[in-house]
Amino acid sequence: MRLLTLLTSYLSFAAAATIGKRAVTPGALTQVTSFGKQPTAAAFYIYVPKKLAATPGVIVAIHFCTGTAQAYYSGSPYHTLAEQYGFIVIYPSSPHSGTCWDVSSKQTLSHEGGGDSNTIANMVKWTITEYKADASKVFVTGSSSGAMMTNVMAATYPDLFKAAIVYSGVGAGCFVSSSGAIDAWNSTCANGQSSATPAAWAKVVTNMYPGYSGSRPKMQVYHGSADTTLRPQNYAETMKQWAGVFGYNYNKPESTKASDPQSGYTRTVYGPSVQGIYAQGVGHTVPIRGADDMKFFGFA
Ligand SMILES: *[C@@H]1O[C@H](CO)[C@@H](O)[C@H](O)[C@H]1NC(C)=O
Repeated sequence: MRLLTLLTSYLSFAAAATIGKRAVTPGALTQVTSFGKQPTAAAFYIYVPKKLAATPGVIVAIHFCTGTAQAYYSGSPYHTLAEQYGFIVIYPSSPHSGTCWDVSSKQTLSHEGGGDSNTIANMVKWTITEYKADASKVFVTGSSSGAMMTNVMAATYPDLFKAAIVYSGVGAGCFVSSSGAIDAWNSTCANGQSSATPAAWAKVVTNMYPGYSGSRPKMQVYHGSADTTLRPQNYAETMKQWAGVFGYNYNKPESTKASDPQSGYTRTVYGPSVQGIYAQGVGHTVPIRGADDMKFFGFA
């Protein structure tokens, strides 16, 4: 009996030791409370699959307004796909009342600026270090407010991400607050009245990380034509922005294909790193296409 107890405690010690100081339970959404600098109170939830890859990829999955890490965990396919492909999912949880993300302040719209984007970037860096993740397989996605934040993460931390998928958001910096307010709603942008040239939108992005000249994540942007929350013009503005950043001609896309990836959807490819998918008749937000996401991120 004593031997059995001893053996059991040894075995559980060994199991704990293999995950090091991380008190993370594989196969369960777990909060990480200590991950280095936390300039904002955004909470860090992580899903480590039971079948973790040897050098795992990482997907950051960012929730919508009124959402939480838990809501996006259960409402999106990523943790199920994580078991299939062995990657880790980071689910940040917004600290703001109403639980939208701060995509309006100078802090969040700047690389290492001390806003929510900075806190999320630190979650990613912690995960890469702790799990010896493959830095060339780090991705970000989100819906609505999380889609806005996905664009902001791609703009402020282009060095961290290889690809981003945006489900019904607005371009990076479109929600900017003229008074610098944190977590502000911007009706002009939401209503599709913030319009600029590709060059001007691109400058909004490059100004978030001045002097950066490295690679940038490839972008895939979904938007519905019947979106009354973030008006469809935001699709055009976001495509102008990323086409501008990559130096593609917004007015001359490489290809435009109807019924791709499904009936009613149209895929426009601006260049190897930028594509948009416009969903006819779809409102806010475009449903997540997990299997297609796996292809875009290169897992499938
Ligand atoms: C809303 O965003 C636009 C840019 O999209 C900006 O010009 C405007 O000042 C912002 N409005 C407020 C009230 O901050």
